[in-house]
Amino acid sequence: MAEKITQQAVLAALSKVQEPELHKDLVTLNMIRDIEIRGSTISFTIVLTTPACPLKGSIENAARAAVLEIPGAKTVQIKMDASVPNDGRSRGLLNLPVRNAIAIASGKGGVGKSTVSANLAVALAQTGARVGLLDADIYGPNIPTMLGVHDIPGTNGNKLIPAEAYSIKIMSMGFLVKPGQPFIWRGPMLNSAIRQFLADVEWGELDYMIIDLPPGTGDASLSLAQTLPLSGVVIVTLPQTISLEDASRGLAMFQTLEVPILGVIENMTGEFFGAGGGEDLARIAKVPFLGSIPMELNVRVGGDTGTPVVVSAPNSEAAKALKAIAGQVAARVSVEALTQKNAPTIDII
Ligand SMILES: Nc1ncnc2c1ncn2[C@@H]1O[C@H](COP(=O)(O)OP(=O)(O)OP(=O)(O)O)[C@@H](O)[C@H]1O
Ligand SMILES: [Mg+2]
Repeated sequence: MAEKITQQAVLAALSKVQEPELHKDLVTLNMIRDIEIRGSTISFTIVLTTPACPLKGSIENAARAAVLEIPGAKTVQIKMDASVPNDGRSRGLLNLPVRNAIAIASGKGGVGKSTVSANLAVALAQTGARVGLLDADIYGPNIPTMLGVHDIPGTNGNKLIPAEAYSIKIMSMGFLVKPGQPFIWRGPMLNSAIRQFLADVEWGELDYMIIDLPPGTGDASLSLAQTLPLSGVVIVTLPQTISLEDASRGLAMFQTLEVPILGVIENMTGEFFGAGGGEDLARIAKVPFLGSIPMELNVRVGGDTGTPVVVSAPNSEAAKALKAIAGQVAARVSVEALTQKNAPTIDII
């Protein structure tokens, strides 16, 4: 009769499987749960650091192969789960239960920050993550239109209840000010408006808070970066030179403020604006390149009609690119959370 398979043997096998982004093995990372052994059948759960993990499939395959190496092992059943670690910076986000706050920025207006913010938020939620979207563009809020919501449901005590669409929670100045009404903000008001948006809104527990920044490296972005303990910032750029110059200015500003740069996204890639500039910028700035999004009509139409392209045309090239980028962003956030100085160990609840 074959020797009995032990828990130790399973752990030993899984300790040879590396998490490719975090460069540690699954056992050291405390990702293995609920090992059960019934004869030659072994089952366990792998708890990843994000449900949006782009390497989910390959980690599962590697774990299966490793466990099948154990003498006597015939069947391996793996349950994939995720618990997003707290990045340790956003933990103090005005005492909100937000695990990671991610700002979407650019040096220049009109490059697709809001489009990217809306689609990334929805794409992350589609993987099962708990996601909030804060429209920090208090001068020209576009998020309500892009997600087809125009009001918040109301208040709970003295807290605003965020709007909800496509399983994400949304807050925007656009909900509080009537269309056409001018917004007049000065520095200190701007700060307190942003703070209020975070502190006085009933967000609930969030794995990711996506923050759509106003254009440019002006006051608003600056004060936000200083007020909020951001996990990191994603820089959106068009492929052509002029936009890249602006984007690299934006990037430099966040670097000066010591906000981690999660990476660069190139948007509107194609015949019109060209291709490849975003990748060049990332290489020169020595930050990750997260992917490029083609210029497509359905992206614009999705934004105008309140149905983001990842929902309205999920199989389009643009939607596929946005979903892959959401995975990349989540992976970068996990890496930042687990590799920064004084990083907490994964606190899986
Ligand atoms: N990949 C794309 N393909 C086609 N149209 C796009 C794409 N990305 C964005 N757009 C369109 O370009 C316009 C500008 O995008 P968006 O409003 O997201 O930019 P922004 O950077 O947030 O602008 P602002 O700086 O004014 O806040 C919108 O009409 C949007 O639908
Ligand atoms: Mg915008």
